[in-house]
Amino acid sequence: MSKPLTIADLKTMARRRVPKMFFDYADSGAWTEGTYRANEDDFSKIKLRQRVLVDMTNRSLATTMVGQDVSMPVALAPTGLTGMQHADGEMLAAKAAEEFGVPFTLSTMSICSIEDVKSVTSKPFWFQLYVMKDRGFIERLIGRAKAAGCGALVVTADLQILGQRHKDLRNGLSAPPKWTLNSAFQLATKPFWCLDMLQTKRRGFGNIVGHASNVSDLSSLSAWTAEQFDPRLSWDDIRWIKDLWGGKLIIKGILDEEDARAAADTGADALIVSNHGGRQLDGAPSSISMLPKMVDAVGDRMEVHFDGGIRSGQDVLKAVALGAKGTYIGRPFLYGLGAMGKPGVTTALEIISKEMDITMALCGKRDIKDCGTNIIASSPF
Ligand code: FNR
Repeated sequence: MSKPLTIADLKTMARRRVPKMFFDYADSGAWTEGTYRANEDDFSKIKLRQRVLVDMTNRSLATTMVGQDVSMPVALAPTGLTGMQHADGEMLAAKAAEEFGVPFTLSTMSICSIEDVKSVTSKPFWFQLYVMKDRGFIERLIGRAKAAGCGALVVTADLQILGQRHKDLRNGLSAPPKWTLNSAFQLATKPFWCLDMLQTKRRGFGNIVGHASNVSDLSSLSAWTAEQFDPRLSWDDIRWIKDLWGGKLIIKGILDEEDARAAADTGADALIVSNHGGRQLDGAPSSISMLPKMVDAVGDRMEVHFDGGIRSGQDVLKAVALGAKGTYIGRPFLYGLGAMGKPGVTTALEIISKEMDITMALCGKRDIKDCGTNIIASSPF
């Protein structure tokens, strides 16, 4: 394929290079995948206001997210197993994000550890926390994130119980892959991925090593999650984490106004309107359809961030126009990483930045900070 021009091009390239079980892991949603599809589809229901004959010179996408300067309002979302899309994937993506001037968020369930990512970056990255029953382990994880100088802690609230994805179950997902007839066939057809993977020793869960030595395949991961993740997690725990952490706190996975108000009551700096990329509650509404309600509920008390279904810079602009102070992309950067490693993540960011810039100009605006409902022609949300 010639130079990728869209996120969809990167997805096609990733599908060719990455073994099926890991490509499908990124490209899947829970059960019927209805919420996953709605996340993407609902953006097209929002129409933009075309403006003409206004000065479009000297445009700027720069803004801040929880007080941190960003070159555009887009962060890389936390994604588990990123190091299976490409060897050392979290380190490569963090470096690409740093060079582009946007935050990278490292998942608790990453392949590269907090310390691995720290070793290749010179600016603060963000850390995403899954809260487990073993509070001693949480204290140690938070201590490691502090020691690495992480700029924000993102606490995920929508995965106390693991949603189910049929593709993962059918593919026999495991990290590293287990040798079965099925996986051997998947790997044999992706030689470049295999060659890269042979160069690295990072093939297990970097942050939970020692805490969960048996976790590798989906059934052991599900069993470990069921045993470790805390289904009793409450708003009091969030307050405990906030005190322990002491820095910028972002609560991820809010889709309901009551929950948004409870999140604001904790004194957190931001919430992320998110349904986990359609990977948890299949049947939940799309993220973008709920964004304006969350902004109405708490936009004057905390920053409202957004993720879910962004596949272009135009989608980012629509989310910003509906009140998001910042957005996150998950699959778009994973496709870039799977397709080409670090240059692929940079390409994904470049594509989104360019599309956002052109769209903003054609809406008659020069500064992302001036883009609000004034650039929306119509929206059902
Ligand atoms: C995720 N997501 C996620 N979220 C989180 O808080 N911790 C995690 O470890 C993961 N892992 C993960 C793996 C993969 C493969 C995907 C695709 C997603 C959810 C993620 O942070 C984000 O909410 C969604 O990816 C946003 O939707 P898009 O941009 O992928 O459509």
